[in-house]
Amino acid sequence: MSELSVNHLLGIKYLTEQDIDLIFETADHFKEVINRAIKKVPTLRDITIANIFFEDSTRTKLSFELAEKRLSADVINFSAGQSSVKKGETLIDTVNNILSMKVDMVVMRHPNPGAGIFLSRHVKAAIINAGDGAHEHPTQALLDSFSIRERLGGVAGKKVVIVGDILHSRVALSNIFALKLQGADVKVCGPRTLLPKHIESLGVGVETNLRKALEWCDVANMLRIQNERMEFSYFPTTREYSQQYGINKNLLESLDKEIVIMHPGPINRGVEITSDVADSNQSIILDQVENGVAIRMAVIYLLASKIK
Ligand code: NCD
Repeated sequence: MSELSVNHLLGIKYLTEQDIDLIFETADHFKEVINRAIKKVPTLRDITIANIFFEDSTRTKLSFELAEKRLSADVINFSAGQSSVKKGETLIDTVNNILSMKVDMVVMRHPNPGAGIFLSRHVKAAIINAGDGAHEHPTQALLDSFSIRERLGGVAGKKVVIVGDILHSRVALSNIFALKLQGADVKVCGPRTLLPKHIESLGVGVETNLRKALEWCDVANMLRIQNERMEFSYFPTTREYSQQYGINKNLLESLDKEIVIMHPGPINRGVEITSDVADSNQSIILDQVENGVAIRMAVIYLLASKIK
């Protein structure tokens, strides 16, 4: 197969296992490209991409922009904070105005779940969801699985635990879909208040004891507490949370095996992960960031080849 089954990347939920294989094979190629002395290819010289961000972002925005530039696409950037959205313009009007400047693809981050899906039905451009509220963050899940595959040789059959604020995390949901699709064994771990009620219906196990979860897994993906999405307290204090659900070097060394530590960033050092763990050899956090560029190049390239 040399083509994706979709015209937009709205969520992992809409992808097939073959789509993921194709994205990974393409990303392998681009990873080699970005490690050359000349890190750029002329492939998308005739494509214009708009990055529109209605929510804060550091690494995702930079990673998309770098991926687009490495492919030689023309890039425009738009942040809602400095725009006419503040003057009451609707999402469709904002985006249609951008598209009338002949834009082929939109990378969008938005606080509302389903914003990308909505947009894909109303505007004529390929849409990539760069995070829609607490719903999905598909390129993050793709780069996470790609990083597991790189470190452990594959994803199928691997035991992965996602730890922390599952309830408010789009990274958790997209990871669950991606890992299950590739045949991994998945558990979620956190305080009951941060685990969605019917999470088992997605085919994942639930473990509220961190030590037990770590003893079981090959990989632990540590999530940040999404304070910005909470309207009240889900646990007594940050200190208590980190005592029960944070990973530190002692805990890691007391396990009878070496597990792989991941984190999508931004890290809250000392809360979900201590510095010595984040910076240890077991952590692949910076590999995730590097792989993010290759994965986004692959997704953009594959979607662009469907517009032409
Ligand atoms: C994540 C996000 O924005 O959902 N970060 C990211 O994209 N690298 C996770 C988070 O903010 O905690």
